[in-house]
Parts: sequence; structure tokens; C-alpha cells
Amino acid sequence: MSSSRRLDYRVRPGGGLSGTLRVPGDKSISHRAVMLASLAKGSSYIQGFLAGEDCLCTMRAFQRMGVRIDQVGPTELRVHGVGQYALRALTPQPVELDMGNSGTAMRLMCGLMAGQTFSTRLIGDASLSNRPMRRVIDPLTQMGARIASQDGKAPLRIDPVLALQGIDYRSPVASAQVKSSILLAGLYAEGITAVSEPEPSRDHTERMLRTFGVRIDAQPGRARIAGGQLLRAANVKVPADISSAAFFLVGTAITPGARLRLLEVGVNPTRTGIIQILQRMGAEIELENPRDFGGEPVADLTVRGGRLRGIEIGRELVAAAIDEFPALFIAAACADGVTTVSGAEELRVKESDRIQSMVDGLSALGIEAQARPDGAVIRGGTLGSGEIDSRGDHRVAMSFAMAALRAQGEIRIRDVANVNTSFPGFASLAAQAGLGIREQAG
Ligand code: S3P
Repeated sequence: MSSSRRLDYRVRPGGGLSGTLRVPGDKSISHRAVMLASLAKGSSYIQGFLAGEDCLCTMRAFQRMGVRIDQVGPTELRVHGVGQYALRALTPQPVELDMGNSGTAMRLMCGLMAGQTFSTRLIGDASLSNRPMRRVIDPLTQMGARIASQDGKAPLRIDPVLALQGIDYRSPVASAQVKSSILLAGLYAEGITAVSEPEPSRDHTERMLRTFGVRIDAQPGRARIAGGQLLRAANVKVPADISSAAFFLVGTAITPGARLRLLEVGVNPTRTGIIQILQRMGAEIELENPRDFGGEPVADLTVRGGRLRGIEIGRELVAAAIDEFPALFIAAACADGVTTVSGAEELRVKESDRIQSMVDGLSALGIEAQARPDGAVIRGGTLGSGEIDSRGDHRVAMSFAMAALRAQGEIRIRDVANVNTSFPGFASLAAQAGLGIREQAG
């Protein structure tokens, strides 16, 4: 949810990150844990839940539909699931669900709600109401769903239908949100629902469906599910979010002499593009204590700062690092030589147009950066000081905060309240690690 409170960051130049820390729980996994636990038969326990606004929107949505969810600790939930068919019966009257700033919540809920027996209106903030929804409306409509939109955008109205039908859908975009929306609708459809995609996107839905006892046939880039399966309650331990760890990985990698340890980071191979890309740029990152949190691989990461070099980042690396490009643009600005990003046009339809937000911000700090339709060209140089408009985009705000570690003067970042959507407590954790950051009413 977009906060009405205007907030800025002021970040002192220089310093370095050090120590050991754990960033909050994975956003993608937290959304899915609440959704599947709500649909399951029995009571599930979720540990390490991300209590950021995005996932809280998902949690409140199920509470509105009658699911009892007890917050038993700051990051612990007990979800009293109603069972797949019970959810259908629970809320006979139409509901309006506010998905705030969250594309994941809106697109996944669209698939889930398409299979219910009551009407739903899905609304969101200004940013979310401007993001493309046809990518889920089209395939769900092919399955028989009835979804009305404002020219392909939210608010969305989903009306019940007698039955959904399985489809075999070839998605034109590598998007876990599209894939997951269709697979979740597939739980309610007759027959088999299959999705294939041009590059493998994150596979948390497939893994978590298995955790909740659903049979699903999944390989990289393709998944198939049979309708009518029941979900069984499960306990979920959520790894630390690699997309939140990314700001600290970059902040350390760009500062010669810095060293930081990040604990319990999710290292699902569909998400580790940031590690591969930084290593190719010359960063030293080690993975230790590999283990498994209920089907999701986890490791402790140690990163050391040094000199980075510019590289070419092509389409094959985009899906596995899709949320990390704002941070990677900062790494590119601090590297020797030129970094070219291509095949990343999806960045234009995130919480902001991240290609433009980052190129404009870097230019304001004196870095040579050009936007391209599907990426950018960034020449490493000296970061000056100045004021950045985050455009209400949490990842843009956190990326420029880290840039201060290598800047010549103070960086002031405007409109940062939405950091709370994915990373509550970012400023205090970053300050604890050595960043000279403070929050100020805007
Ligand atoms: C997400 C998928 C990604 C990512 C988003 C979370 C998810 O979006 O950018 O922050 O949880 O499924 P796309 O799948 O649309 O690329």
C-alpha cells in the first residue's frame, strides 16, 4: 500500500559495510505461504514471514474472506486454512480486496479468485493501477474466467463462472506472476493446466504447492497441474530475501576493504542471477552452509568489496535477477568500464519504469548512463552528490542509498515510504551495518 506519509533518506557519503546480518523474509515466498496456507485443510505455521506492506495486503485479503490468521510473533503466523472448497463457500457476498503496491498479490489473487463462487474487486495504489494486467486476464479468460478491467489495468472485477477449463498456455513473457496465476487457477479448473515460458522464471509456487501436498509436474520453463487437488496444511520457514540481500551485496562489493556476512539467504537457482552477475563483474561472494528450508535452498553469503569491471548482461540472465537491476545499476556506475544491459524490457513495467528511474538518478549524480528500450548502457565513473526522486519505488530508493558509500557528497532520496512494502527496517539495518543513513519527513 502506498503510504501517504512522505519520507526521504539523507545518506552521508563514504563509510563501509561490515558485520553479520539477516535481512527480512522472502517476499515472493511469504505471499505464497499465506495464500496456500489459507486454502489448505488444517492449520499451518509460517516462520520468518515478511511483515512488509505487500505481504500484509495478501494476509488482510484472506482475513477479509474469513480465514483466521493469528500473528503469533513479529514474523510468525498461524493460518487456520479453510480447505480448497471451503474458501469457495466462506464468503458468499462480493468482496473488495486492496492489493496496495503489490503486483504479485494482484496477479496471483486474480488466478485464485477466478475459481471462486463470489465476485471480487481487486484494487491497488496509483502505481499498481498503472501496471499491465492483460498478461493474466488473457490466459485466465481462455480458461473461462470472467474478468473486467479498465483497459487492461486495475481495478479488476472477477465474477464467478460455472467452471474453469485447463489450458496449455505459452506465455510470451518470462513471468512467475503470470505462471503462478494460471497454475493457481488450474487448482480450480477441470483437467490439466500447463504453462510454458520463454526463460525459466522463479519457481516458488511450484515448490510450495508440493510442500502443501499438491502434485505438480515442473521443469525449468514448464509446469503442469491437475485440477481438483486438495491442499494439506504445512509448516513453512521463509528464507531471507535475496532481493533484499542484494542491496547489501552491492553496497559491500563496491567498497574496497568492506566485508559482510548475510545469513539464511534464499539461493533458489531461479533467483541467484545477482550473485552470478556480481561475480562476473569481479566481486568476491562465497556461499557457505548450504541447507534447505522446506524445499527452498538457503546459504550464508560472505561478500568482500573490491574493484568491479563493466560487463554485458544479456536476456539469459534477466529473469533470475529481475528485481536486482536497480542495485546492479549502482554496481555498474562504480565499475571500471561500460556495463550494457539488454533483454530487460520488463523493468519498464515494475513499481516504476526502473530503466528510466535509474538512468535519471545516475545522470543526476554525474554518471554517464543511457536508457535503451530493453536496458541501459552505463559507464562507470565518479558518483557526485545530489537529490534523487525514487518515484515511490522501494528498490530504486534502497539502491541509491547504497550508492552513497561511493559518492563524493550527501545523497538525498525523495519519496521512500514504500521501502516498507518489501523491507521494513531497511534504514536501521543499513545504519547498523555502517551506512550513514537517516530518515526525514519529506
Ligand atoms: C514475483 C515475480 C517477479 C518479480 C516480483 C515478484 C513473484 O515478477 O519482479 O517482484 O513473486 O512472482 P514477474 O514474474 O512479473 O517478472
